[in-house]
Amino acid sequence: MARIFSGIQPTGIATLGNYLGALRNWVALQDGADECIYCLVDLHAITTFQEPASLREQTYGMAALVLACGIDPERSILFHQSAVSAHARLGWIFNCVARMGWLKRMTQFKDKAGKNQEEVSTGLFMYPNLMAADIHAYHATKVPVGDDQLQHIELANDIGEKFNHDFGVEFFPRIEPLIVKETARVMSLRDGTKKMSKSDPSDQSRINMTDDADTISQKIRKAKTDTEALPDNLAALAQRPEARNLLGIFAAVSGESQEAILARFAGGGFGPFKNALAEALVAHVAPIGARAKEYLADKAELDRILQKGAAKAAAIAQPITAEAERIVGFLPSAG
Ligand code: AMP
Ligand code: TRP
Repeated sequence: MARIFSGIQPTGIATLGNYLGALRNWVALQDGADECIYCLVDLHAITTFQEPASLREQTYGMAALVLACGIDPERSILFHQSAVSAHARLGWIFNCVARMGWLKRMTQFKDKAGKNQEEVSTGLFMYPNLMAADIHAYHATKVPVGDDQLQHIELANDIGEKFNHDFGVEFFPRIEPLIVKETARVMSLRDGTKKMSKSDPSDQSRINMTDDADTISQKIRKAKTDTEALPDNLAALAQRPEARNLLGIFAAVSGESQEAILARFAGGGFGPFKNALAEALVAHVAPIGARAKEYLADKAELDRILQKGAAKAAAIAQPITAEAERIVGFLPSAG
């Protein structure tokens, strides 16, 4: 049995990109033989300032949504990162293993910090070390993510390898990303060359998993496209990122192949295609949003689920972290 670990930031509302790129795979993996551990990464969230009240709300909101997507807390471990101190403890050790040059190459940092590199928090810069600790604290070997996280997983492997090498141990295993190729990168509805993101200033750029049927339909109707008719083959979409993105979403939520969908709409404009896409999306997404609302109505129950998950997570992560601390040369601690 292998161990699977993944995380999502409790900032904003999960998008269709989070769902198709990651969350849907989290749910599917639950049915396999591996142990699944899923984490609401609130320590990562505060790398950019979060209003405390809204961080609390968003963490509940994300817990509700993950459950609504189908994560079963009896079969998977679901918890919030700050509840298990192993993450921060191992994260600190990794801050002392990773090299400045490695972190400076991270494209996500460059994207997020932009011209503002002197002003962003040091946490934003060191964030991939904490992500490496999230995974290695469980000796997890499989990590379901979208393809924007690939570089961070390579870094986690570099960190594990350097730790093993520096201390002459075989302690941290290699990590393998699990990526659903077709939906590894769902793009913005306003710009087919940009990733759909919960932090995009334009709400029109994304489908939120809590959007109601009318909002979903309206966003699809307004989604950017081009003026050409739909072609009868996929190759003809190579230079049409918006059309390719909508077709990818359509196939992912309907279960039909992209070719079969194109065959139905070839030669026509985007109107009928968008109507059918909106209908498929509403059928798939709206029930999840409705279920999330129900979970969100009982925060005491969410607290209970997350705290139970945290106890199970700690039982795995604390001994591994304690062993890493022993390898480094720290004296034994009580906790
Ligand atoms: P985040 O919202 O950055 O916490 O991402 C949570 C998970 O969703 C990660 O596995 C990401 O790789 C994945 N993800 C985020 N945005 C997208 C997207 N537009 N397409 C596919 N996967 C995504
Ligand atoms: N960095 C990931 C993101 O922004 C979230 C994350 C944190 C994560 N720790 C993780 C994903 C560990 C996989 C494994 O999307």
